[in-house]
Amino acid sequence: MKQSGRTGWGLRALPFFAALIAAIMCWGCNYGHMYDGDAIKAFKKKMPDMDKRSIPLDDGYETLVKSDPIKLKNPLSYSKQSAEQGRVAYGYFCVQCHGVKLDGRGTVGQSFAPLPADLISDHVLSQPDGLIYSRMRLGFKRHPALFPTASAGDSWAIIVYMRSVKRQP
Ligand code: HEC
Repeated sequence: MKQSGRTGWGLRALPFFAALIAAIMCWGCNYGHMYDGDAIKAFKKKMPDMDKRSIPLDDGYETLVKSDPIKLKNPLSYSKQSAEQGRVAYGYFCVQCHGVKLDGRGTVGQSFAPLPADLISDHVLSQPDGLIYSRMRLGFKRHPALFPTASAGDSWAIIVYMRSVKRQP
């Protein structure tokens, strides 16, 4: 009788012990306060509005995102100089994926699915310059956004170069 009574008391005390252990474990943990830390607060502040009179020097990212790609005009027309600028820039920014012959067979590109496009195919060349420009700069499906990498001038020049390349056998 005495024995079973002791066992019963032990079981009834279990929740209290559990609560005590939990309280000890949480002692000093103040998870909620992490969000009040300076490191997080800085990101909660609203950025100041830009002065309406500000004019971007290069074509800004926001401007490009908001513009209609079809209406973007290539400021460069074909000349030996613009095609050469494009050829050089292509060697920096595109060749690793789209290949020396622009056929989409660059070494790095082969690990992509889908594979990089053939840049002198009808699929690509039938598109207006503005659309090609916007797709390569802002990214498109699996395409990396090259906005931070290649400048506006180089990007337009690359399109001039693409249109000037003849398919090699
Ligand atoms: C890191 C690899 C990589 C680099 C660098 C790269 N591309 Fe691409 N490109 C791709 C892949 C992959 C696709 C296919 C994307 C898809 O269809 O999802 C593609 C597709 C394209 C297309 C076809 C878009 C369409 O309408 O189907 C164009 C145009 C293009 N790239 C232009 C360029 C130009 C110009 C450059 C250099 C400024 C460049 N790319 C750099 C990987 C790359």
